[in-house]
Amino acid sequence: MVERRLEEDHSFPKDSILFMKKKFKLKKATGKLGVLIPGIAGAVSTTFIAGILAKKNNIGELHGSLAELGTIRLGKRTSKKSPLIKDVLPLAKIEDIEFYGWDVYGDNCYESCKKAGVLKDDQINSIKSELEQIVPQKAVFNKKFAANLKGKNIKKEKNLYKLAQELIKEINDFKKQKKIDRLVMVWCGSTEIFLKVSKVHKTISSFEKGLKNNDKNISPSMIYAYAAIKCGAAYANGAPNLSADIPALIELSRKNNVPICGKDFKTGQTLMKTILAPGIKSRLLGLNGWFSTNILGNRDGEVLDNPKNFKTKEESKLSVLDHIFQPDLYPDLYGDFYHKVRINYYPPRGDEKEAWDNIDIFGWLGYPMQIKVNFLCRDSILAAPIVLDLVIFMDLAQRAGMYGIQEWMSFYFKSPMHGEGLYPEHDLFIQSMKLKNTLRVIAGEKPIDHTGLDYYYD
Ligand SMILES: NC(=O)c1ccc[n+]([C@@H]2O[C@H](COP(=O)([O-])OP(=O)(O)OC[C@H]3O[C@@H](n4cnc5c(N)ncnc54)[C@H](O)[C@@H]3O)[C@@H](O)[C@H]2O)c1
Repeated sequence: MVERRLEEDHSFPKDSILFMKKKFKLKKATGKLGVLIPGIAGAVSTTFIAGILAKKNNIGELHGSLAELGTIRLGKRTSKKSPLIKDVLPLAKIEDIEFYGWDVYGDNCYESCKKAGVLKDDQINSIKSELEQIVPQKAVFNKKFAANLKGKNIKKEKNLYKLAQELIKEINDFKKQKKIDRLVMVWCGSTEIFLKVSKVHKTISSFEKGLKNNDKNISPSMIYAYAAIKCGAAYANGAPNLSADIPALIELSRKNNVPICGKDFKTGQTLMKTILAPGIKSRLLGLNGWFSTNILGNRDGEVLDNPKNFKTKEESKLSVLDHIFQPDLYPDLYGDFYHKVRINYYPPRGDEKEAWDNIDIFGWLGYPMQIKVNFLCRDSILAAPIVLDLVIFMDLAQRAGMYGIQEWMSFYFKSPMHGEGLYPEHDLFIQSMKLKNTLRVIAGEKPIDHTGLDYYYD
């Protein structure tokens, strides 16, 4: 139906995205969708998996997920047509999802879900047998990239290339054994230390040579991303570290027709920041400073307690305000604001993070004002629906023939991946419009420009 609509409409200008869309054919979501998760014993992964199993058993709702609960307006406001996204597009079904993953800790999903301490025991116990069946494979891991982890469930091979081949074999075996039709990988592993793009990351051949030579600039997450793209699995990076966002893997994703996106799930304090900052900016209120601090006590917090890992997170969290406020365009309002982000590891809080923001703004004639935000959130409860949406929409993108960087997934990330020469879009509301308009385009519907002028001058 969608294909036919696209074929029939020849009225698009040659440079419009609708015209581009005619090149793509949307395949149906038949068969099973395999979800591959490096870091499958972590808090986000286990909260995500338990949620999906709870839904499959009709004992929980997937709040926060656009793919599950979101609606999309089609056509003019007067037509009052806002169906569920999943009724407009052929999305993969929750019951068709199968899990597979790796972790440095070998605990099965039931044990790790209990250890993560996010969900209540009675809820976890009600899906115990299904959780117990999900057991992490040995991880591709190097302590240099996350020194605070002590798990021993680790693969041993003589070089990184062999490790990548092992991952590829495991993915292909999983696909065959479980009769999987399509695959998406979401990196839910710990934040790796800060790395910059270097020579080995530049081309596919330099990267493969680096794998064979055990190059120290190739991180475990890059090896998983490489294996995923080689197997035709879409890849999303939920952590802020350098991973698929290197020229070699971007090139490989385009060559193999695989969509990729990242990075760093937009939850908690940064979610609040990208809700508030666009409001302050759109009313042209000035900014003197934004101080953000938070406490968290989960394993993620423990890894980030290491300064080398924190540096990766800090870069991701800091970049948001510069892009939203555009100080180069508004030097008087935003040319000189002070921005500080602190993460404090505080074990008693576990996953129940608490974040404080103090925002010093100024208005008419320079008069100062303050905003205080105290967000008592649950990190993994906010991250789990993001993982689901990434799985569902990245699978959709792949079936629509989209490949390479998926900028329309920016809505879900603190540091959105974007094409060369473009700046990242951080404003949550622009990201939301971009996401929904892309969904309309994939569905063969017209994007909405929100001017509303047609109601008055048509
Ligand atoms: N929870 C959130 O709201 C949130 C928001 C943004 C980003 N993130 C990022 O998502 C990731 C997961 O968060 P979390 O709270 O679940 O952390 P977590 O520490 O509970 O889980 C991470 C898991 O990854 C495993 N791991 C590390 N390196 C690995 C490797 N090379 N191979 C396989 N497994 C590996 C660890 O053993 C651990 O079980 C982190 O990088 C975090 O920074 C989380």
